[in-house]
Amino acid sequence: MIKTVCYLSDSVEHNTMDELKILYEKAKENNRVNNITGVLIYKDRNFLQVLEGEEHPVDQTFKRIKKDKRHKNIFEIINSEIEERIFEDYNFGFTIVNNNEELKNLYQYLDWLKEADSSHANKVVRMVENFVSSK
Ligand SMILES: Cc1cc2nc3c(=O)[nH]c(=O)nc-3n(C[C@H](O)[C@H](O)[C@H](O)COP(=O)(O)O)c2cc1C
Repeated sequence: MIKTVCYLSDSVEHNTMDELKILYEKAKENNRVNNITGVLIYKDRNFLQVLEGEEHPVDQTFKRIKKDKRHKNIFEIINSEIEERIFEDYNFGFTIVNNNEELKNLYQYLDWLKEADSSHANKVVRMVENFVSSK
């Protein structure tokens, strides 16, 4: 069974580019091994993450993420079975978005996703758009 987990959280401190890079490298490597796709967006000290993959690795990964002291107030938005992944084709599976260039790429991808006309994809698109445009 393929599932997705989407959550919001608050970064404990302002993360420097170096700190984000360390987090990203670890997440990307683990997610590659666990065949997890998705996206991690950092904006104004908040994270929005989408994880997708087989049930067990996604749940185990989310369990580790929830224990991580680098963020708090983890708010689960979606935790459900899905028919297919939507970030599989994006940037080789898992991306961190923390600059305008990445954001532009992500928007292009979301535009493409909208064409797919799937209710799950549209929900994720709206969630990401609200997150990015808030404040
Ligand atoms: C906002 C945030 C997002 C994270 N995303 C992932 C992720 O997608 N995959 C992952 O394995 N770890 C992620 N982590 C890191 C985990 O919390 C944890 O530090 C890491 O998985 C431990 O890996 P290790 O047991 O291989 O050292 C994230 C941490 C934070 C704070």
